[in-house]
Amino acid sequence: MSIMKRHTILEKNSLLLTVSILVVVSIGGLVEIVPLFYLKSTIEKVEGMRPYTPLELAGREIYVREGCYVCHSQMIRPMRDEIDRYGHYSLAAESMYDRPFQWGSKRSGPDLARVGGKYSDQWHMEHLINPQAVVPASIMPGYPHIAERDLEVNVVRETLRTHQFLGVPYSQEKIDNALADLRAQANPDSEGVDALLERYPKAVVSDFDGDTSRLTEMDALIAYLQMLGTLVDFSIYDNKANLR
Ligand code: HEC
Repeated sequence: MSIMKRHTILEKNSLLLTVSILVVVSIGGLVEIVPLFYLKSTIEKVEGMRPYTPLELAGREIYVREGCYVCHSQMIRPMRDEIDRYGHYSLAAESMYDRPFQWGSKRSGPDLARVGGKYSDQWHMEHLINPQAVVPASIMPGYPHIAERDLEVNVVRETLRTHQFLGVPYSQEKIDNALADLRAQANPDSEGVDALLERYPKAVVSDFDGDTSRLTEMDALIAYLQMLGTLVDFSIYDNKANLR
C-alpha cells in the first residue's frame, strides 16, 4: 500500500484521525515543555541587574498605588518601530526583581521601560504635578498631592523584608541599612552616598524634588522613574546594527 493509500484510512476514520492528532501534538508539546523543568531558571542572568534601592522601591510602590500601569507599559517588544522609539527591547531579567511586574497591558501614554535619564528631575516634577504645563496636549492627569505628601519612611525596612520573602536577594546588610540608604539617595551631600553606591551600583543620587529638607513621595517616584532601563549596558551585548 502506498503512503497516500494509508493516509486515506486516517482521513476516512475521524476517531482514528483525532487520536493520531492528539499523539502528534502531545509529542510536540512535550519536546517544548519538558526541558523547562530541568532548567534552574528560565531567566538568563544579565550583567548590571540589581534589586531596587529602598528609595526606588518606595517610588515603585507609589507608582503601583497611583495606578500608573493603567496607562503605561514597561515592556518594549522586539519589533522595529518599538526599538526605534524606546530603545533595546525588554529582557526577562530586567523585570526579575519586580513584585508584581509592571509590564502593563495598555498604552494610553508611552512605554516607560527606558524612561530613566530621558528627562531632568525638574521636568518630571513639573510633569507629574501638571502634565499639561510641559506637554500641552497631554491627557495624563496631574498628581500634585505626590509633591505634598511626606514619604512614609518607617515601612521601608519591612518593604525590603517582604520583597526578600518573595525571593528578591536583599541581604541582611541591605535591610539593616534601608533607612540610611533611602535618605542618602535623596541627598547628594549626605555621608551615606558612598555606602549606598557600594550596595546599589548606578543608583541615581539627587535631591529629586529640589528640596533636601523634606523627603516627599515625589522624591521616591522620580528616583524610580530615573532608574528605569538604566541598569543594563546594552552596548556590551550588541550594537545597533545587530539589533535591526
Ligand atoms: C490616563 C492615562 C495616564 C495615567 C494614569 C498616567 N499617565 Fe503618564 N502619560 C500619559 C500620556 C498620554 C503621556 C504622553 C503625554 C505626556 O507626556 O504627558 C504620558 C507621559 C508620561 C511620561 C513621559 C514619558 C515620555 O517618554 O515622554 C512619564 C514619565 C509619565 N507619563 C509618568 C506617569 C506616572 C509616574 C504616572 C502615575 C503617577 C502616570 N504617568 C499616569 C498618560 C497617563
